[in-house]
Order: sequence, then structure tokens, then C-alpha cells
Amino acid sequence: MRIGKYLMSMTMAFLLASAAKAADPQAGKGVAQAKCGQCHDVRDWEGEDAASLESLIADIVAGKVKHRTRVELSPTEIANIAAYWGSGGR
Ligand code: HEC
Repeated sequence: MRIGKYLMSMTMAFLLASAAKAADPQAGKGVAQAKCGQCHDVRDWEGEDAASLESLIADIVAGKVKHRTRVELSPTEIANIAAYWGSGGR
């Protein structure tokens, strides 16, 4: 029983840690289609990884990278879109 409890708390700790960190590609898909889909398709970012997309989009939002339109996104939305585009839509 002790071991069962230990495993249980380890699993919980892991789930909590990944829930806090992991971006949500499904949510990102929704935002990307709504706000970016007019001009961008997930296939445009083939081979890009989520981490570099995330910093690139963050730089656009911050105005450090030029972009055709003004882009307003929360940090969570940026991470989610990057996770979606970085996944190649699969
Ligand atoms: C009205 C059209 C339009 C919309 C809407 C749009 N973009 Fe763009 N975006 C462009 C154009 C044009 C470029 C430059 C050409 C290219 O790289 O495709 C670009 C480039 C980019 C780049 C590459 C920048 C670089 O310097 O490499 C990123 C990242 C990007 N857009 C993210 C987004 C995100 C995120 C959204 C939605 C929140 C969005 N865009 C919405 C037109 C748009």
C-alpha cells in the first residue's frame, strides 16, 4: 500500500508539472485559425520547432519583429499557437 501511495503521488506531481508547462496545441489551433488563418496555414511552418516559433511570435507581439498586421496575443496563446504550428498540425 505504501508503494501504491508513493506511485500515486509521483503521478500526480508529474501531471501537475506537465499541465502547468505544456502548451495546448488544440487550443492553439482554434486561436491560429481565428486570428492568423486568413494569411497563414499550419503547413507554412513545416520543419519549424515550437520553441523557435514561440520566440518569433513573441517578438512580433512585442513589436520587435515586423509583421504586416498588429498581433495581440497573451503569452498562453503564443505558446499554444507555437505548439500547434510546431506540431505540423498532426
Ligand atoms: C493579414 C495577413 C496576416 C495575418 C492575419 C497574420 N499574418 Fe503573420 N505574416 C503575414 C505576412 C504577409 C508575413 C510575411 C511573409 C511570410 O513570412 O509569410 C507574415 C509573417 C509571419 C511570421 C514570420 C515572421 C518572420 O520574420 O519570419 C510569423 C511568425 C507570423 N506571421 C505569425 C502570425 C501570427 C501568430 C498571426 C496570428 C495571430 C499572424 N501571423 C497573422 C501576414 C499575416
